[in-house]
Amino acid sequence: MARAKIQYICQNCGTIHSRWAGKCDSCADWNTLVEEREGGSIGNGPLKSTVSKGHAVTLTNLASNIEYAPRISSDIAELDRAIGGGFVRGSALLVGGNPGIGKSTLLTQAAAALARKGHNVVYVSGEEAAAQIQLRAQRLGVSDTPVQLAAETNAENILATLIQSKCPDLVIIDSIQTLWSDIADSAPGTVTQVRLGTQAMIRFAKKTGATVILVGHVTKDGQIAGPRVVEHMVDAVLYFESEGGHHYRILRTVKNRFGATDEIGVFEMSDKGLCEVSNPSELFLGERNHNTLGTAVFAGMEGTRPILVEIQALVASSSLGMPRRAVIGWDSNRLSMILAVLEAHCGVRFGNHDVYLNIAGGYRIAEPAADLAVAAALISSIAGVVLPLDCVYFGEISLSSGIRPVSYAIQRLKEAEKLGFKQAVMPRLGSDKIKSPLRLDEMDKLLETVAQITASNPQQKKIPSARR
Ligand code: TYD
Ligand code: MG
Repeated sequence: MARAKIQYICQNCGTIHSRWAGKCDSCADWNTLVEEREGGSIGNGPLKSTVSKGHAVTLTNLASNIEYAPRISSDIAELDRAIGGGFVRGSALLVGGNPGIGKSTLLTQAAAALARKGHNVVYVSGEEAAAQIQLRAQRLGVSDTPVQLAAETNAENILATLIQSKCPDLVIIDSIQTLWSDIADSAPGTVTQVRLGTQAMIRFAKKTGATVILVGHVTKDGQIAGPRVVEHMVDAVLYFESEGGHHYRILRTVKNRFGATDEIGVFEMSDKGLCEVSNPSELFLGERNHNTLGTAVFAGMEGTRPILVEIQALVASSSLGMPRRAVIGWDSNRLSMILAVLEAHCGVRFGNHDVYLNIAGGYRIAEPAADLAVAAALISSIAGVVLPLDCVYFGEISLSSGIRPVSYAIQRLKEAEKLGFKQAVMPRLGSDKIKSPLRLDEMDKLLETVAQITASNPQQKKIPSARR
């Protein structure tokens, strides 16, 4: 038998090196090379060491009719929404998230819901003993469901068990970092082991039509630990996250071969597990009260879902030579841009002020459409003018201070209407195009927004003007 070749694999980027070095040539990270023995793969995979001549595979015509297998709905609406309307048979999903965020809790609840509907569900945990999973299930009130449990980390044993149990519909592997195979002699969690384990599970899913959910740990910078190739291999990648110690959790889809990405599912962690939050706008708007300076409501979108979020700004005079700019939940470069546009084109000066920006409820916004709401909150704070409580803002601001149209205007307005808002400050789209009971203030220039806000209260503070 040929001697297994030794190779050195970077645990950060997965690059294979023939000799050890302190620094990876590819990603320039230090001390990430680990010695691993080159091996085959589990279950006749593509890395099989004996070279065969190959055989012809049957080709299918693109135009031929496919057999349509319906998705399996979990009955947890927020989970179904995030994965695009239920689990696709034969697909593999990767769920990543920080420790303690609730991955195992969510998947236990999903497993129980499916088992209750008569599906055959297997939950394999490499981190907890079966008794611990049972305890959690008791706490979640689902201990009476026929979910099959196993505490196992050896990939070959797991596959043998799955093949033996009658065709599971859903298999949960918690987590891929604990899987190990006899083929590679490196430790569990190393690139080779994670890749082998994932490959084996994906092959099982494709072969049997079972849905496989893999739980992945994340590194300290929030990426799923192990090689990036794992994310390429699976059909869908979901991140389960929460911001700043809040008790609600967001399941965010970043890749989905069978549905839209950028979808989110919102949950709240309670003492009885995760509860769905079907109207997240109420959550992110928090308790709004009158006379709060520097707050504006942004009509945002998460994928195809409208979400209203409160944006809070505090502009306070500063004694520092270099005033502070602190942002939570938004891009600090974008804040600098908005401040520069307000200074250069609208004559509002922030040079002697500290600026703090916060997105309520620990929510994180990535959309440029929030520019206008941020600008409104900043103007409200610096001018001492309370913005109308029943008004939403959305629109992208260009460097020339123009307010640019954004997508999904109608959905944003509908959500605002649903939550009792009466007016919207937004880019010019042409009112005849939009039918909304809200009063629409369509604007082309940021200066118009500044003028509207400052004119609304005669007792305002004087805006520090660049022209004076
Ligand atoms: P868990 O699902 O074990 O997290 P992960 O698998 O992502 O590491 O969740 C653990 C946390 O959730 C733990 O801190 C306790 C909390 N929790 C509740 O608050 N309520 C519950 O009903 C359950 C089951 C867990
Ligand atoms: Mg867990």
